[in-house]
Amino acid sequence: MEYISIAIDGPAGAGKSTIAKAVAKALGIVYVDTGAMYRAVALYCIEHEIVERSQIEKIMDQIQIELIYEKEMQRIFLNNEDVTHKIRTPEVSKMASYVATFPSIRTQLVESQRKIAQNQSVVMDGRDIGTHVLPEAKVKIFLTATSVERAQRRYIEMKKKGISCALSEIQAEIEKRDEQDMNRSFAPLKKAKDAIEVDTTGYTIEEVVEKILKIIQQRSI
Ligand code: DC
Repeated sequence: MEYISIAIDGPAGAGKSTIAKAVAKALGIVYVDTGAMYRAVALYCIEHEIVERSQIEKIMDQIQIELIYEKEMQRIFLNNEDVTHKIRTPEVSKMASYVATFPSIRTQLVESQRKIAQNQSVVMDGRDIGTHVLPEAKVKIFLTATSVERAQRRYIEMKKKGISCALSEIQAEIEKRDEQDMNRSFAPLKKAKDAIEVDTTGYTIEEVVEKILKIIQQRSI
């Protein structure tokens, strides 16, 4: 049986995870959130106060990451501890973007991501899925939105969770993360040549999901 892969890349806050999850659900296939893996590595560094470059380079020797799928939900385990919720903090976001610049970390995580896509059909989201992880993906989407809109979405999300924050700070943080993700030398955030860009600014989640499902249909999957 041939499995299909759909790659969804784009900058922080473009709505990748919400949209990729909904697309996967509509197609009845698994959604793989690769950002969670970089976040788990970041959490390990924070919890163990690892900051030295030389130590971060070798960090994967101490880490075991496992993704488990339960009722369309991805749970992530770091050395057998469920860290699904713990990895969603601004501190982890910042550190994840930093650890993602290390080739030794990326190489191992990319290997696991490719293995996941070998055994089932997936919608995988990240920064380098279409360009590096799954260059043969059947459909590649590059999701964007202005940094103002992305910051506003995050701001609303945080407020809902009862976390107080300043909109201007969130926007600055997002722009800093974009800059780091786009300018790292190894597998940076970049639109693949054969990716279709979908600008989500001003559109609802439902509208974007519909647009992507149409693109997938047109590619006759
Ligand atoms: O998608 P996210 O915000 O959860 O990702 C956290 C960080 O991980 C992001 O700033 C960049 C990095 N990342 C990456 O470099 N490559 C991926 N495929 C996914 C995430």
